[in-house]
Amino acid sequence: MGNRNRIAVLHGVNLDQLAVRPSEHYGQLSFDELERQIGEYASELGLQCRFFQTNHEGEFVEHLHSLAGMADAIILNPGAWTHYAWSLHDALELTGLPAVEVHLSDVSKREEWRQLSVISDVCIATVSGKGVQGYREALSLLRAQLGQ
Ligand code: DQA
Repeated sequence: MGNRNRIAVLHGVNLDQLAVRPSEHYGQLSFDELERQIGEYASELGLQCRFFQTNHEGEFVEHLHSLAGMADAIILNPGAWTHYAWSLHDALELTGLPAVEVHLSDVSKREEWRQLSVISDVCIATVSGKGVQGYREALSLLRAQLGQ
């Protein structure tokens, strides 16, 4: 079966605006810098990352559909969709792939409406509030899950 080391990293709505979002929640990194850093962690762990970002829910869903046979595992930070977009839940479930949900900020300590995640029950883990380090944690969890 070869190496199972292909990780799809998906970012949803408003994540591309990281540089202008409140730094007390999201830190100082620009979006490009965030992806560069994740890519670096991945290569340290012997994993291959492919990145995708969109502000359109249907495109996010279609990207999940396209992962069959193209990825071994998924890291996703859907932004505000996390809290209400059940279409993402169903599309993620359809992939059948192990997934980790990541949030830069600690959503458990923020507004009430951020307390619900509609995808957490189709993820093997959720990492929240650890900034870019959270992606490193997600990558190691998936590496272990894939037996790499
Ligand atoms: C986020 C948290 C969400 O509540 C928010 O809507 C985002 C980013 C995070 O990474 O902390 O856009 O997913």
